[in-house]
Amino acid sequence: MILGMVGWRGMVGSVLTSRMQQENDFALADKVLFYSTSNPGGPAPALPNGEPRLLGANSVEDLARCDAIITCQGGDYTKALHPKLRDAGWKGYWIDAASALRMDDNAVIILDPVNDAVIRRALSEGGLDYIGGNCTVSLMLMAMDGLIREDLVEWVSSMTYQAASGAGAKNMRELLLQMGALYGSVKDLLADPKSSILEIDRRVSAEFRSPDFPKEAFGEPLAGSVLPWIDKELPNGMSREEWKGGAEANKILGRPYQPAPGSIIIEGLCVRISSMRCHSQALTVKLKKDLPVEEIEAKLAAANPWVKVIPNHKEVSLKELSPAYVAGTLSVPIGRIRKLAMGPEYISAFTVGDQLLWGAAEPLRRMWRILCG
Ligand code: HSE
Repeated sequence: MILGMVGWRGMVGSVLTSRMQQENDFALADKVLFYSTSNPGGPAPALPNGEPRLLGANSVEDLARCDAIITCQGGDYTKALHPKLRDAGWKGYWIDAASALRMDDNAVIILDPVNDAVIRRALSEGGLDYIGGNCTVSLMLMAMDGLIREDLVEWVSSMTYQAASGAGAKNMRELLLQMGALYGSVKDLLADPKSSILEIDRRVSAEFRSPDFPKEAFGEPLAGSVLPWIDKELPNGMSREEWKGGAEANKILGRPYQPAPGSIIIEGLCVRISSMRCHSQALTVKLKKDLPVEEIEAKLAAANPWVKVIPNHKEVSLKELSPAYVAGTLSVPIGRIRKLAMGPEYISAFTVGDQLLWGAAEPLRRMWRILCG
């Protein structure tokens, strides 16, 4: 098969390309073509089965050479090029990180450790569009796989702690600039152990309000604060990120949209915090029956090779159940599992995952592998 790579230079695209190199995924292609919107004709990454020159990412003719295209170029690109390619009769596989096509009836949201059967059914029925899920949704389903696959979950309330990377590369930079600006505003006072903490705090608050405080990307301070809204505002008071929780999760699982019978109700609030690239989620789960915690943990731990149950103890939770520990790895730890006072079917859990790996790049490269058989 001929594989085309579009949007491979951005943040998600770079993580994806480097994972594909690590796992030797490109070697499965007869040929790998790299595309560019800005520099067609320029030098392409050197691969034994590559072409020396970049092709035009806006050229239907160039794109139509591929049997499969993986794109991390973004939703506007998808909206512009995908219909043109299909209208031109292109019958290749479209594997996409952007959300634009996710809820289309013809598209499958890919997360194969969880929905391999849904993907394979779509392939056998001739489905051509395979779209990566929202990062928060994918990470939650990876973590909760063991309970969901046995149909033990009635509903999940997910309160998220989402990383700067979910908003983009420039937001990650701005988060660090904000941290630096806050530190700079009190550096002299911090150096003096006798200085007043209230004076330090007063200067930090003044810095938040300073017209020079760097907040072009986020619009508001994130460092030293939180942002209680992610993505667009919907008329029903939900954020679009919150809507994705219920809509995408049920679609990934091949279930009807909530609250229809057979769906899992997934609700919550999505909040941006100052971690770099790992999303965390505090879950309240209503199970369909009362199960001992040990059994719950055993089911979660056995579901897939990446989930890791962290025993509900302070030291190990603080160390291993944190964005700082998980960043850059494929591990999806879940811990803080205990029964809640609401009743024996109610449990809490806390889970962390790398937003750029399982949350974005990994399902795409694995879809390519599925296509290669
Ligand atoms: N929408 C997510 C976020 C990232 O803003 O964190 C992409 O799935």
